[in-house]
Amino acid sequence: MPTVSPCSDVRASEVEFMISSVQPARSDSPSQIDSVDDAFSLPAWIYSDPDFFELEKQTIFRGSWQLVCHQSDLPNTGDYHTFDFLGESVISVRGLDGQVRSFHNVCRHRASRLLDGPKGHCPGRITCPYHAWTYSLEGKLVGVPHRETFPALDVAKHGLAPLEQEIFMGFIFVRFEPGGPSVHEMAKPYAHEMAAYRMEELVPQGRVTLRPRSVNWKNVADNYSDGLHINVAHPGLTRLFGKSYGIEAQEWIDKMWGTLRETPSKRWSERLYQTLLPKVDSLPPERQRLWTYFKLWPNVAFDIYPDQIDFMQFLPISPTETMIREIAYVHPDTRREMRAARYLNWRINRRVNIEDKALIERVQSGMRSSSYTAGPLSTEEVCLRSFTRRMRQLIPEARQLRKANAPR
Ligand code: FES
Ligand SMILES: [Fe+2]
Repeated sequence: MPTVSPCSDVRASEVEFMISSVQPARSDSPSQIDSVDDAFSLPAWIYSDPDFFELEKQTIFRGSWQLVCHQSDLPNTGDYHTFDFLGESVISVRGLDGQVRSFHNVCRHRASRLLDGPKGHCPGRITCPYHAWTYSLEGKLVGVPHRETFPALDVAKHGLAPLEQEIFMGFIFVRFEPGGPSVHEMAKPYAHEMAAYRMEELVPQGRVTLRPRSVNWKNVADNYSDGLHINVAHPGLTRLFGKSYGIEAQEWIDKMWGTLRETPSKRWSERLYQTLLPKVDSLPPERQRLWTYFKLWPNVAFDIYPDQIDFMQFLPISPTETMIREIAYVHPDTRREMRAARYLNWRINRRVNIEDKALIERVQSGMRSSSYTAGPLSTEEVCLRSFTRRMRQLIPEARQLRKANAPR
């Protein structure tokens, strides 16, 4: 694993290397860069390089918090959800004692996958489909056919392998390796804002969306917290928010937000949403017309609307493929206006997603150009700067404008 170096430790030789690698000299010439660490974007090569992708898996993703589902997705004893991530498979299951636990979805005998599908129900026991070893819902090994033929087997040591789990506002997170802050710590700067949405009481709306994207995961993450493109590339959001869109970066979490304008949009779906969105009694007045987006390091996000909360993950599949996993949650509300607002929200954001897909594909394709290494970041691009700094702290190779020893 690469050593972690504070960004202020960039050595003069590295700076020189970065500067000399910018070819040809342009108006954004490196002599004008105040801070090598965040005045320039991450270099293009790390958005497609297989070796860098392997470094990211080990350095970033093994220790990152990933969401399996919400507690309300597992209402009954024996209910489970699975989550597949970079070759690993996880199950979160509700035990007889009512607690949710998370385990590797792997039998301790010959490594067979245990449970299939994104979700399901185990009636009291988890039984391996290969040779029928059986585990309790709390993960203990409780049944081994032909037990006498395994004389050395220590049953107590062959329960399901647990994962570190954290429940944050009802959402079940896991990680494969310890280290780094908890989800609570990462979200702390905005915990008071999130608390207004009573996320523990959310229920699934029944919609899980998987959207494959032919881009590197960082491209999706960058775009999620990019504020400058909103008024350029999202006419619908511009009609809804005007110029109110804002972004903020804290150490481990970004916030983006926009307030719905009173001026009616000329598009019927947006205008109807503006009109129909009903008052939510549990929300304070300043949140009744507010859309807020939070992105947790490195690839997890919440889209928080007055009418629903969409959870999103940008799951790396390969150096140039990402799966966007999205699950919608709501507070039970049968009002017709609320049902209509949720439908309209979906329509509006479906358009935004199509626009973003085209944008990130354009960037991914431009990054293949021999003319491009990295680009200057505006002082307003605080989320991109924050992400850039952390990447360069964690993986020093991200400071190189071109891959070391790569043909020029
Ligand atoms: S692999 Fe599971 S019982 Fe053999
Ligand atoms: Fe966008």
